[in-house]
Amino acid sequence: MIISPEIIEDIKFRNNIETVISSYVNLKRAGSNFNGLCPFHSEKTPSFTVFPATQSFYCFGCGAGGDAITFTMRMENLDYLSAVKLLASRSGISLPEDSNITGKKEVGRQRIIDMNKDAARFFHSMLLDEKIGEPGREYIIDKRGLSMPIIKHFGIGYAPNSFASLHDHLKKLGYSDEEMITGFLCARSKKNNSVFDLFRDRVIFPIFDITGNVIAFGGRRLDGIKELKYLHTNDTPAFKKSKNLYALNFAKNHGSDSMILCEGYMDVIALHASGFENAVATLGTAITPEQARVFSRYTKKVIISYDNDEAGQRAADKAFRNLQDVGIDVRILKSDSTEAKDPDEYIKKHGKDRFLKLLNSSKSKFEFEMDRILLAHNINIMDERVKASKELCNAIAGYPAQVERELYARKVSKLLEVPPESILKDVDSILNKRRKQEKSNEKTEIFRQSSGIGDRVNPESSLNIKANKIEESILGLMLYKPELLKIGIDHLTVDDFVTSLCKRIFDSVSSTFKECGKYDIGYIQGDFTIDEISRIAKMVASRELLTNNNEDELMRLINSLSNEKNKNDIAGYDNILDIIKNKKS
Ligand code: GTP
Ligand code: MN
Repeated sequence: MIISPEIIEDIKFRNNIETVISSYVNLKRAGSNFNGLCPFHSEKTPSFTVFPATQSFYCFGCGAGGDAITFTMRMENLDYLSAVKLLASRSGISLPEDSNITGKKEVGRQRIIDMNKDAARFFHSMLLDEKIGEPGREYIIDKRGLSMPIIKHFGIGYAPNSFASLHDHLKKLGYSDEEMITGFLCARSKKNNSVFDLFRDRVIFPIFDITGNVIAFGGRRLDGIKELKYLHTNDTPAFKKSKNLYALNFAKNHGSDSMILCEGYMDVIALHASGFENAVATLGTAITPEQARVFSRYTKKVIISYDNDEAGQRAADKAFRNLQDVGIDVRILKSDSTEAKDPDEYIKKHGKDRFLKLLNSSKSKFEFEMDRILLAHNINIMDERVKASKELCNAIAGYPAQVERELYARKVSKLLEVPPESILKDVDSILNKRRKQEKSNEKTEIFRQSSGIGDRVNPESSLNIKANKIEESILGLMLYKPELLKIGIDHLTVDDFVTSLCKRIFDSVSSTFKECGKYDIGYIQGDFTIDEISRIAKMVASRELLTNNNEDELMRLINSLSNEKNKNDIAGYDNILDIIKNKKS
């Protein structure tokens, strides 16, 4: 399907880049631009920049860049067309119907979300139905102790013990069998080809996305059997398991400076019911780096409150590392009760006040590391004590604040019976070594970038580094200042450019301009890979840092490109290729 430039323009007009990005990234104004922590790599100081003037973004740290469409592609893991469709549907623009190869209509994300909402309403009304809902109410109210207000708040429902009730209901509302199957609400029987409900005789937990859409369901069986205790929606056009955190839509509004991370629905619900509305859950899977990044957009501190068993503690370990990697202050809750296997049971047995105490005594990052290291070594043996001390010094060196390092050094010194000064001395020498290493890494990186060696997006840049710099400046300037676009097109041809990437960019830009009378990165995106789009965004972003973005500068650049090219033609490409080859070997 080809989407016309007019529609792309309309979509981008109604999805301005600041708004699109700020629903994922916490943006702060910086002059005429915005800064934030890059959602595509982990960083502690913001190098991710949004440029309202050119409706583009660029990360000076990892090099990701583009427009609202590229951003959505990267963020939601979508191809170009799906990203356009998502933005269109969010802003109420209808696209011409499309069909896939089989001629069947494709089931889109919005349709699934609408259907899920109707299904959630149906499940909820079934729970309230005096007769049909009885087994569900008996379980969730009598057995698990949930109150009506909390059931309403989380939209909890009941799937009747029948193969067709949801199917018949959705059919009446106009949903097709195909849609119900794609949305993982129904399946087709292999025996007689009929379509039947997947969720039966289960308590239903709707899963919401950050904006409150119902994107999936979890259904819990009512008996005590552990097998298939929960049935979950598989990945659908509206749901990717690895990306979602249960109850984040509520927790994000809670205004607390921390969040509590649990394993299950019932834990989160029990905590919310007791006033801990900053609890979220990963739903049985270990927290992924992706979820950790989502987290870091909403909170600075996370208290992990996983199950009390070994599996739970192992999962906590993993979550700990992933969260720490994105700069979150992580704490781990250690239960003081053997009778409670998870937060849900803890609150029921010991009450919310004692849970609050537990929360406040949760271990800090360093205490956790310290315990781990001390557990791994028998410090009564001299050798082991030295090893433990080395690992502890390494851990201390990881803290940027000197006060913190001194505090921890004192703690360790008491434990190992070594003077704190020696610990701090060791820590300092580790820090010095790390700084030296960092500097040399930086140097290598700068050399790599400036020589163009290893440039995977534009491998030809190494053929003529200087000319490539100039051609990128020219393209950046033309795309940065629309009034310079026409001047550039009038003075240049494809052959004036050096690398085939820049030739393609110029070609695509000038033909779009000739067709539409203007240019927008959104029009030509289909012609370039996502990394090439990032490179284009980089060219534009580089102009942001300069003040001479005018016609004189453009003409000067065009002249020096032609001079550089002449030099290059005399030297000959083969010659330069030889030089590079020799450099590598
Ligand atoms: P209760 O047993 O009702 O207290 O539920 P819980 O939320 O405490 O669940 P538990 O701690 O046993 O598991 C944590 C989470 O893992 C659940 O909320 C589910 O999301 C998920 N989970 C548990 N069992 C299953 C299962 O059999 N299949 C799948 N797909 N997920 C499960
Ligand atoms: Mn439980």
